[in-house]
Amino acid sequence: MDNKNIESALHETRQFPPAPAFAAAAHPNVGELAALHAAAERDHVGFWADQARSALQWHKPFTQTLDESDAPNYRWFADGQLNVSVNCTDVHLAQHGDKAALIFEAEQGAVRRLSYRELHAEVCRFANALRNLGIGRGDRVILYLPLVPEAIIAMQACARIGAIHSVVFGGFSALSLRDRIEDAGARLLITADGGHRGGNVIELKAACDKALSEGGASIEQVIVLQHTAHDVPMQAGRDLWWHDVVSGQPDHCEPEWVGAEHPLFLLYTSGSTGKPKGIQHSSGGYLLGAKLTAQWVFDLKPADVFWCTADVGWITGHSYVAYGPLANAATVVLYEGGPTWPDAGRFWRIIQDHRVSIFYTAPTALRALMKLGDHIPQQYDLSSLRLLGSVGEPINPEAWMWYRSVIGQDRCPIVDTWWQTETGSILISPVPGVTATKPGSCTRPLPGIVADIVDDEGHSVTTPDTGGYLVIRKPWPAMLRTIWNDNERYVSTYWERFQNRYYVAGDSANRDADGYFWIMGRIDDVLNVAGHRLGTMEIESALVAHLRVAEAAVVGRPHEIKGEAVFAYVVCRGERPTGDTREFVEELRKWVGEQLGAIAKPDEIRFTDNLPKTRSGKIMRRLLRTIARGEEITQDISTLENPGIVEQLRGDDGSGKGR
Ligand code: WTA
Repeated sequence: MDNKNIESALHETRQFPPAPAFAAAAHPNVGELAALHAAAERDHVGFWADQARSALQWHKPFTQTLDESDAPNYRWFADGQLNVSVNCTDVHLAQHGDKAALIFEAEQGAVRRLSYRELHAEVCRFANALRNLGIGRGDRVILYLPLVPEAIIAMQACARIGAIHSVVFGGFSALSLRDRIEDAGARLLITADGGHRGGNVIELKAACDKALSEGGASIEQVIVLQHTAHDVPMQAGRDLWWHDVVSGQPDHCEPEWVGAEHPLFLLYTSGSTGKPKGIQHSSGGYLLGAKLTAQWVFDLKPADVFWCTADVGWITGHSYVAYGPLANAATVVLYEGGPTWPDAGRFWRIIQDHRVSIFYTAPTALRALMKLGDHIPQQYDLSSLRLLGSVGEPINPEAWMWYRSVIGQDRCPIVDTWWQTETGSILISPVPGVTATKPGSCTRPLPGIVADIVDDEGHSVTTPDTGGYLVIRKPWPAMLRTIWNDNERYVSTYWERFQNRYYVAGDSANRDADGYFWIMGRIDDVLNVAGHRLGTMEIESALVAHLRVAEAAVVGRPHEIKGEAVFAYVVCRGERPTGDTREFVEELRKWVGEQLGAIAKPDEIRFTDNLPKTRSGKIMRRLLRTIARGEEITQDISTLENPGIVEQLRGDDGSGKGR
């Protein structure tokens, strides 16, 4: 951390207790939550064992709850056996078979409903189709799909047969897709002809073809969902249509019973080196976390209509679209398209039309929608809403207040939920019927989660409003198990900093006098752009892969809507580009888009003769951040190899300034 103690900049004092009527009907209520906390404090492991026994259906009960023999590779419920898809569908058929599991709205407006019985049948048919292709226990399957019911069906079908899915967000490039296929050693790729976004067709199949023409040799077969129905070439012997492989398949499918530790999925996320990490999650512990937190944080009731806007390409779409709500027999809304298509009222119209009662989205979307004006949401009937959620980045108090008053009409509690791809489920969050919220704070840890803030020596920071490392002191069931193929990196990234004693989240945070947590941001070289994690090294490597680029440094700069914007300093081979560099800047942005995906494109590129380095050759990132933000330079630059470079970096010499 740059400073040992970071002074908290926020001084938010407003508090919003839940309305009495909400609190009275909520589960957990005050007494229930206190009992959960007390039980977890009394006996951490016993608490989780009780929860796992009552929340999940086990094929074979577990006898050992937590195995710490290979710590920090913790194992939970290891000798128990279950099937995740059975816990999300079969167990509901008797009581909720006719209840809507999914309400899907396509970008063009068509609506499709699937009851739990129908979802179960589709999952079984597709699972049988996968088995027919020889896919089974432990095989890796890559999903590169739009946000359509088949994405959920494919995830659940993999779970049913013990295959390990890895969803790659449809906005990632062909090359990112290829890298993930190769790292996972996947045998099967499931995609669609295309997806719809903002009125455009996203060419998913074409990206798959490109990925496979440049590597990805482990892929034997590609299943293609016909969705946009535009012409796509099919490679004989390799590519199969979804509708052909499911045709004639029975609507029941014997589940593969797997051990609780069997990997359910890999999900790649950015870290502080150039290579994305395949975060590996378990079956039993993961599902327990997703199911319980969906109850605790969203107070799910039988009549609720739950809409989490996240794509299944992100962890939020795993835990709070594909698994947690379904494990609770909830009705889930799925919307494929963009938030402002065909007009700025789309989200609010979906809430109105489907009577959404719980809405969970990201601050970046709220800020973008807020900017368009209050009159837009005010045209819609939002009276069905009773609870609002936020995830992905710190929510600024202004957006929080807007969310509360304009969308929630001062009636709905807001749950600001802190968690990560690695944590599997929400760890720090208000419990809506109990916690008095403060705008910008994720409040307190959930039952069974021992979160703390520690200083450089690993001592708990007890002075209020003083920053430190956010850590989790005890293992929890939904935690990641390892990084696929790289356990050493798992240990070094999350545990080594404090001698394997606590899980280090990579965020800094502080706690106020009431014990509320305030997340301050990442402490590593990871940016949070529109709620998505991007490693600065990944973008730097992509830039350097361009023929004309010799060196690059990427930093984040605050951005009104996206939270953080990508700012790149680039050193070219040969002469530094001067004059009108717009065309070259565009070429580099497009290049990064092709390497990584559109979300990683730098917002600004500045050319320089060299990067500011210390005498030992380390890039002075803090200096670059200061400059990118246009702030006064206060740090010591006397150790710079070439102090004259600062003017160039600022763009003050009038040349080399991109966009
Ligand atoms: C940030 C998303 C503040 C944080 C679920 C974390 C948040 C990273 C919040 C994980 C929040 C997530 N308040 N910051 N409520 N939620 N973050 O893996 O920096 O995509 O480490 O998981 O997002 O991002 P990821």
